[in-house]
Amino acid sequence: MLRGKKTAGAEPATLTSALAAPKGEDAPPKQLVGMSTGDWYREMFWNAPIAMLEEDWRGAKRAVDELLRRGITDLDRYVAEHPEFISQVRTTHRVVDANAAALRLFGFESKAEFLRSSRELLPANVESNMQVYRAFAAGVSVAQGERVLRGRGGSVTPILWRAAIPSQQGEFGRMVFYAVDVSALKRAEQALMAAHADLAYASRSSMLGEMVASIAHEINQPLGAIKLYIDTARRWLDRPEPDVSRARRSVNRAHAEADRASNIVVRVKNLVRRVRSDTGRVPIGSVIAGAIALVEQDARLHRVHIESARVGKEIAVRGEETQIQQALVNLLNNAIQSIASAQQQDGRVQVAVHAEGEDMVEIEVLDNGPGLPPGPEEQIFRPFFTTKPDGMGLGLSICRTMIESQGGRISARRLDAGGTIVAFALPIFR
Ligand SMILES: Nc1ncnc2c1ncn2[C@@H]1O[C@H](COP(=O)(O)OP(=O)(O)OP(=O)(O)O)[C@@H](O)[C@H]1O
Ligand SMILES: [Mg+2]
Repeated sequence: MLRGKKTAGAEPATLTSALAAPKGEDAPPKQLVGMSTGDWYREMFWNAPIAMLEEDWRGAKRAVDELLRRGITDLDRYVAEHPEFISQVRTTHRVVDANAAALRLFGFESKAEFLRSSRELLPANVESNMQVYRAFAAGVSVAQGERVLRGRGGSVTPILWRAAIPSQQGEFGRMVFYAVDVSALKRAEQALMAAHADLAYASRSSMLGEMVASIAHEINQPLGAIKLYIDTARRWLDRPEPDVSRARRSVNRAHAEADRASNIVVRVKNLVRRVRSDTGRVPIGSVIAGAIALVEQDARLHRVHIESARVGKEIAVRGEETQIQQALVNLLNNAIQSIASAQQQDGRVQVAVHAEGEDMVEIEVLDNGPGLPPGPEEQIFRPFFTTKPDGMGLGLSICRTMIESQGGRISARRLDAGGTIVAFALPIFR
């Protein structure tokens, strides 16, 4: 392998002599053997629907052969160390002929004019030239690559080119290059990449948006309750004769709500970190009682009566208690809000529990409100589906995520007698 300063000094002479044509060889190349009388070939060449150039690569072939003769097989390395090689060799290159499609590609009408400008229009493109040299060295029959063509008036066209490497030494003076304009393809590729980037950004930001929205949604309930309990406590204390024990009860409730809020934050954090939350035995009776206690105040405000079936301590499901309670609170809130929106006086919400097949327990929330909005029942579980002016439309989609992540399912349907039933089933704990 020839490398380093010692050999570099000696090379230009060798290279120049390699580039110099043996006497008479670089005279204008003859027509391809057998084609001289074949007018049909020129006819076909000229009218081919694809841009075609005939180019003289004899000098390049000789230069590559010379390197190989010197034992230099790693052409990439050689060119990296002798970058002048490409431009020196290119001085021997010439465009010999072009067809009509090639003239169109470069923006010319006259072939003579194009051939005169071809040296400036087709400066050596290092990567494309390397493709051809590599093919020369490897003795393969085809080289191909991509490059950008500069046409008349500065137009720029990305092309895909392909060259047939001759098998006979005498044919390198008329190597045929085919070129296909790939600008439409490149534009499509760029549009595709931009669309892909947009999509990735959109999905990232919508995931983030959904997460932020769900945190806001979940945290809002306990925050609202805390404010309410503290206001109540303040009223008890502001009386001419403060009722300290009632105020303390309100403050205790506010404290419980604050605990709930921090549990929600922990859960969301775990969700982000993909940590599995604590699942285990969750007694249904206490979940229901806890959830009802949380919505009681609101129910009273809207004169909604909540009743629940008695559930024995032994009935339990497998899951995560905070999540199940949270799901139930969401369903109860929806039921109360639905009745409130109709300003009904006899609002009733019922929580029922029954076995669902062998392995599940179903918890149902029934209300006698105005019923589900028109359309498929399923739509209410879609994120951001809401019919409320101040709703976020996230309550049920969060419920579904929570219930399904624990191996359960959730559904809704209209009641014949009017009103709605939303129910979720979870695996029974044995
Ligand atoms: N019990 C119900 N009765 C009638 N419609 C209901 C009931 N529960 C849910 N819906 C309908 O489903 C929609 C979606 O409910 P979801 O809980 O997901 O969102 P939301 O209550 O509108 O807003 P938020 O995000 O604040 O909970 C509601 O806007 C309402 O139209
Ligand atoms: Mg809701």
